[in-house]
Amino acid sequence: MAIIIDGKKVAAEIREELKLKIADFKNKTGKVPGLVAILVGNNPASEVYVSSKSRACEELGMTSKVEKFPSEIREEELIQCVTRYNEDENFHGILVQLPLPSHINEQKIIETILPSKDVDGFHPVNVGNLVIGKETFYPCTPYGIVELLKRYSIETKGKHVVVVGRSNIVGKPIANMLLQKKEGANAIVTICHSAAKDLSRYTKDADILIAAIGKENFITADMVKEDVVVIDVGINRIEDKNSKKGYKIVGDVKFDEVEKKASYITPVPGGVGPMTIAMLLTNTFSAFKKFLEKNKII
Ligand code: GUN
Repeated sequence: MAIIIDGKKVAAEIREELKLKIADFKNKTGKVPGLVAILVGNNPASEVYVSSKSRACEELGMTSKVEKFPSEIREEELIQCVTRYNEDENFHGILVQLPLPSHINEQKIIETILPSKDVDGFHPVNVGNLVIGKETFYPCTPYGIVELLKRYSIETKGKHVVVVGRSNIVGKPIANMLLQKKEGANAIVTICHSAAKDLSRYTKDADILIAAIGKENFITADMVKEDVVVIDVGINRIEDKNSKKGYKIVGDVKFDEVEKKASYITPVPGGVGPMTIAMLLTNTFSAFKKFLEKNKII
């Protein structure tokens, strides 16, 4: 039986640590970190994410704002909104919830955000810095995974990490982070994706398997080796007549059977998910600290 990695508990610890730091900075400078979340349209999952992010900010004593726009918004108007927050000294982090409607060029919006306020770590400048191992904002989900591995003292050095999924939000950044020659990384990394002819050939060799596919119960016990560490990034809604909402959230890993073979595993919900928000708050606090340093306030 595997040790269940409790992301909810670790995320709560991180939030508590941040809360103390924020109170301390407020005492010293009279200032608090600010995060604006920009939400376009009414995708139910995005609405839930943004309201959780906003609530988490407020609980920590940060300034939080949600800018909500209808899905018909013109690209130009969205650019103007981002630009306004680039110039606003009360907001140190800007987050544009993805995906955006198809008539808006997502990359153009991301590139409008100042790299110093890009707390999602999606701007090409930050992505480039991540790849070459310079200090940057790490995308929140991969950052959360690295933090979980660290806090559970799971060795990554020399281990074979197999990432299934090549998205810009999870697959590519986590692979690059764990590849770096530094503490908490230094792994041998393989990235697999939907074009793999025989996916099991790769997943079976993983010491650490990171599933970021977006397909429910996709990773089964026969695809992994004994004592594997399994990180499940999937958030899939499936119908559940017994639940009030009519659905439940499941991961990309068939938990019940894989758990019997793994040494460590993250559950869904309560694994990687809560860490994403904790790391967004961490990044916003870093952006705030850098702003104070740059302006010689500390
Ligand atoms: N959509 C799915 N995940 C994310 C995320 O981490 N950040 C943003 N901005 N949008 C997302």
